[in-house]
Amino acid sequence: MLDEELSLLRTTALAELSTAASGAELENIRVKTLGKKGSLTQILRGLGQMAEAERANLGALANAFKEAFAEALSRRMQEIKQAELGQRLENEWVDVTLPGRPRNLGTIHPITRAQQEIIAIFTAMGFPPASGPEVESDWHNFEALNIPPDHPAREMHDTFYLPPGPDGRKRLLRTHTSPVQIHVMEGRQPPLRAIAPGRVFRCDSDLTHSPMFHQVEGFMVDEGVHFGQLKGLLEAFLIQFFERSLPVRFRPSFFPFTEPSAEVDMGCLFCSGQGCRVCKRTGWLEVLGSGMIHPNVLANVGIDRERYSGFAFGMGVERLAMLKYGISDMRALFDNDVRFLTRFA
Ligand code: FA5
Ligand code: MG
Repeated sequence: MLDEELSLLRTTALAELSTAASGAELENIRVKTLGKKGSLTQILRGLGQMAEAERANLGALANAFKEAFAEALSRRMQEIKQAELGQRLENEWVDVTLPGRPRNLGTIHPITRAQQEIIAIFTAMGFPPASGPEVESDWHNFEALNIPPDHPAREMHDTFYLPPGPDGRKRLLRTHTSPVQIHVMEGRQPPLRAIAPGRVFRCDSDLTHSPMFHQVEGFMVDEGVHFGQLKGLLEAFLIQFFERSLPVRFRPSFFPFTEPSAEVDMGCLFCSGQGCRVCKRTGWLEVLGSGMIHPNVLANVGIDRERYSGFAFGMGVERLAMLKYGISDMRALFDNDVRFLTRFA
């Protein structure tokens, strides 16, 4: 009788083991079968009243069952673990051939960003990038630009002079990017065009002036170049840079190296033209100087001043960045306060 019960238990327990789907389920089956109150224990409880031979027989059967059970349990456990691993590999599969996702360290400085945008716009308009040195000769920064040694216009520039170089010639920190015009034109003939970003230096500091600041120079020399082209180009540039039309005015001005000359002002957006500290109560902020290249400058670099004409402009990158990003104190651009800089991320 008991051996029949045992044989039935064996069949059902092994069948249950073989279909269990998790470690927890296996454990339940083990407790239910072999535990203190388990089915096998119940069966073996009758062992005491049995005859010697029967008892030995049943004991042997019970041991064989326990062994078979343990083996089936561990096999099924292995299978379940394998299946779980397969599932995890499937879920956590990573395509190592995909490009990485780099985290940016820091942000692009608003001046750099404005400068890159200015260059991109003019490059697309056909002006190739050019550059010149920050330590300049007096010739490139002044004389070739029609500013002779005693010209009063030198006073406008608050120049930082340096000790003379090995050749004994006067040296200075360039006060504007206009000397790059001279570098590009020297030894070349029109048609010429270039755009030149760079750092410039003047002994000057307040809300809208910094002793080191950035300009972008641009110019073009060819037959028949005229002021209308300059005006159209600058207007097209400003609309692209600010991504909308803003109040702009061309104001007659003076530069020794251009004739006629104009400065371009943008309506002050900090007071909507009402007048504030940033625009010194004028309602306008000067962003660039421009004009038709003076015939003397062309003659200085060996270009036929009768045949060719050209225009040039030099813009203040900080001023344009202030207006575009709403920065009311230029000095914030140079404090390197991370809380300020990350606003432009
Ligand atoms: C010039 O430097 C001329 N070389 C521009 C030029 C080029 C005229 C080609 C004609 C032909 P200006 O000194 O005005 O001009 O400076 C040009 C721009 O630089 C100004 O409109 C202003 O936007 C910016 N700027 C001038 N001084 C400072 C300063 N200290 N800090 C920040 N920006 C300045
Ligand atoms: Mg000016």
